[in-house]
Amino acid sequence: MAEVLGSGGVSSEALEELALRLGAIAKTLRLRRERGELGFWDLPYAKGARGEVERLAHELRGEAEVMVVLGIGGSALGTRTILHAVPGDRRVLVLDNLDPSTFGALLDELDLSRTVFDVVSKSGQTTETLAQFLVVRDRLLKTFGGVDYRRHLVVTTDPERGPLRQIARDEGLRALEIPPNVGGRFSVLSAVGLLPAAFAGLDVAELLRGAAEMEKRVREGDIRSNPAAWLAALLWAHHTRHGRRNVVFMPYSDRLRELTAWFVQLWSESLGKALDLEGRTVHFGQTPIPAVGATDQHSQLQLFTEGPDDKVFLMLRVEDHGRDFRIPVSYEDMEELAYLGGHTLGELLNMEEEATETALVAQGRPVVRISVPAVELHTLGQLFFLFEVAVTFVGGLADVDPFDQPGVEETKRLTFALAGRRGFEEKRAEMEEWRRKRDARYVV
Ligand code: PA5
Repeated sequence: MAEVLGSGGVSSEALEELALRLGAIAKTLRLRRERGELGFWDLPYAKGARGEVERLAHELRGEAEVMVVLGIGGSALGTRTILHAVPGDRRVLVLDNLDPSTFGALLDELDLSRTVFDVVSKSGQTTETLAQFLVVRDRLLKTFGGVDYRRHLVVTTDPERGPLRQIARDEGLRALEIPPNVGGRFSVLSAVGLLPAAFAGLDVAELLRGAAEMEKRVREGDIRSNPAAWLAALLWAHHTRHGRRNVVFMPYSDRLRELTAWFVQLWSESLGKALDLEGRTVHFGQTPIPAVGATDQHSQLQLFTEGPDDKVFLMLRVEDHGRDFRIPVSYEDMEELAYLGGHTLGELLNMEEEATETALVAQGRPVVRISVPAVELHTLGQLFFLFEVAVTFVGGLADVDPFDQPGVEETKRLTFALAGRRGFEEKRAEMEEWRRKRDARYVV
């Protein structure tokens, strides 16, 4: 804030103005929610869907030791975040890339008879996921035959639309639904994240309870009581008034390392837009930079403190790290080691968080700190919901659509064209033209 950072900080007048705008945005969001346009907002309360997930997970736990999630983007990152933060008692692997070396190593290592594959795709037609599915299905058919292969496949997709839904119907595969009004990067609290979590033996109700608690706090636009509105106001103000076009997201916890990847996708795809809602060219976006404390103190921090003042820092501090280690008192005559004795590793990590925060602020760099009591399902549910609503508020302030991703769609179309999908012949010709230009000028 300006009280600390002077002219580089956000003034109370700027905040008051933003508070008014956020109040109006909150009203519009409420109306959109009532019209059923913001499906993610209702997920914490979807008891029916949770029941389905728990039933299927129970069944699958009786059949398999390992679940492999085939999915990408919003169909993978939330699941990985949950299971990295709070591992359960069953192994869940998330394969979110086509890289044949990873894929091959995994298939060689797995005991297929004790493995179930969860094929996750909202659209049901994502190239990477379908390609993985085809390879796996073929392997399963060859191993178990034309009937039993089905016991090793589950599909999570739109209830009606898309080729995956059709395949699930035609082949009698067990399937769960992603509500039509929930987009990929907002789907972690649907069957997308819940089935793998429940398979791992986690209490998904606790995750949803955390999200529901946050939902109650972020309904209104009043920045004095709504943490999502506060967060949106600060990140927006530092970006648009002070040129901080990057947001560094830095949890001080290895268990939240994967949350940074989920946050990066949420912030990038939701806000990086060429056009605003009126069709004007804006090229809006705040670039998310992932970092983890204390590791990145010895990597990116030099740039953060002394490089360009174009970043706002979102620190995430965990009060209690759970299991901890007391550092033994030893080498008392060597001050370089003696001062460590008696502290725990968790305490030291939090001291480093405070030191980094202070060093940044001392250099005039703005810091927003979120503190959570511990890394647990309840907290994760809160954090997912907080960030989902915060990004929706920033979308409102920027007047862009946080729920589409037209820039990603074009790459998908070009890949279809390159791989020879029917109906994409024109794109193929476009691609050939680019190749000619590139090869003529830049290939040596
Ligand atoms: O947020 C999004 O919509 C995307 O990142 C998708 O999650 C990603 O492209 C995968 O799409 P799908 O779930 O349809 O396979």
